[in-house]
Amino acid sequence: SKTLRVGLLGFGTVGSSFAEVLDAHRERLEDAGSAVVITRVFNRGVERKKAHPKASFVPASAQWTENVDEVLTADDVDVVVELMGGLDPIEGWLRTALEAGKHVVSANKQLIAYRGAAMFELAAKQGVQLLYNAAVAGGVPVIPGMAQGLSGDIIHRISGIVNGTCNFILSSMESGAEYATVLKEAQRLGYAEANPSADVDGFDARAKLCVLARIALRAEINPDDVPAQTIARVDAIDFAYAKELGCTVRQVARAELDGDTVRAAVGPALVPKSSPIAWSHGTQNMVVTSGRFGGDVVFSGHGAGGHPTAVAVLSDVIAVAKGSSKVRMPARKLKVSGDVTAPFYLR
Ligand code: HSE
Repeated sequence: SKTLRVGLLGFGTVGSSFAEVLDAHRERLEDAGSAVVITRVFNRGVERKKAHPKASFVPASAQWTENVDEVLTADDVDVVVELMGGLDPIEGWLRTALEAGKHVVSANKQLIAYRGAAMFELAAKQGVQLLYNAAVAGGVPVIPGMAQGLSGDIIHRISGIVNGTCNFILSSMESGAEYATVLKEAQRLGYAEANPSADVDGFDARAKLCVLARIALRAEINPDDVPAQTIARVDAIDFAYAKELGCTVRQVARAELDGDTVRAAVGPALVPKSSPIAWSHGTQNMVVTSGRFGGDVVFSGHGAGGHPTAVAVLSDVIAVAKGSSKVRMPARKLKVSGDVTAPFYLR
């Protein structure tokens, strides 16, 4: 049996949970003949990271380094797992890894949303895999679900909740909590982005929406063109009014094909209590796809946090070990219109 050797970039909330979940899988993977082992870990402040409570899940034989080149092109690395986020310098790093013939598994929604087309092309040219199941909705297999399980349908609309932090904040406010207090709690629990403006102002959700639009709608759209409205101005009184209308308030992301245009937007929306989108609480994500033949399909589960996201990352790594999965969709470059029907919810 062959061993897949992992070079890990980032030992934070997700990286350390990945080591933990991988450790829990060790025997079953070995039994299945597809052993996976971490050989290298990159992070700044390696000595501090080695004292991390989950560092014990990294094999003692692994090499920790503050020099990323020692991972990207290392002979004992088959797949680079990137759990750091952001475009710069990550884009250059992952290009180096792909050019060196490494497979790449990434949770980086910004990278896939903004640079996906070029990265997929490079991966294809190199004959390696670039998988990103963890980039959207954490532990919910919405990407492989759409790319594989729904490839037989023609999807014209996707909508739902793809930011766990906003959902954690809004569903807590629904029960009377204060915005600022819950935001702090979301940061403490490791749900929020390094700069939580990305969550509350909608930039995280719109990047994820573009990642999903490529797969579901075969549309390549620029995240910067998708209007994003902040949830920071949502107040207790909004929930009171929403309640009188039989609704609640959620950060909703939506994209719908309309000829050569994609109508898309992200922001707080009134959601009827009867909609599954309204039932999502805490970090739960909820994506509803609408297909011409299969109708509506709902994907739901934890969209943020170490363990759920690590599940998605490991699922990709296992797919690489098995040499199977590919998520490459031919997509058309389309224009975005922010003109969406509001309120927008599952009928
Ligand atoms: N900050 C993101 C969220 C993390 O809250 O959904 C998962 O992508």
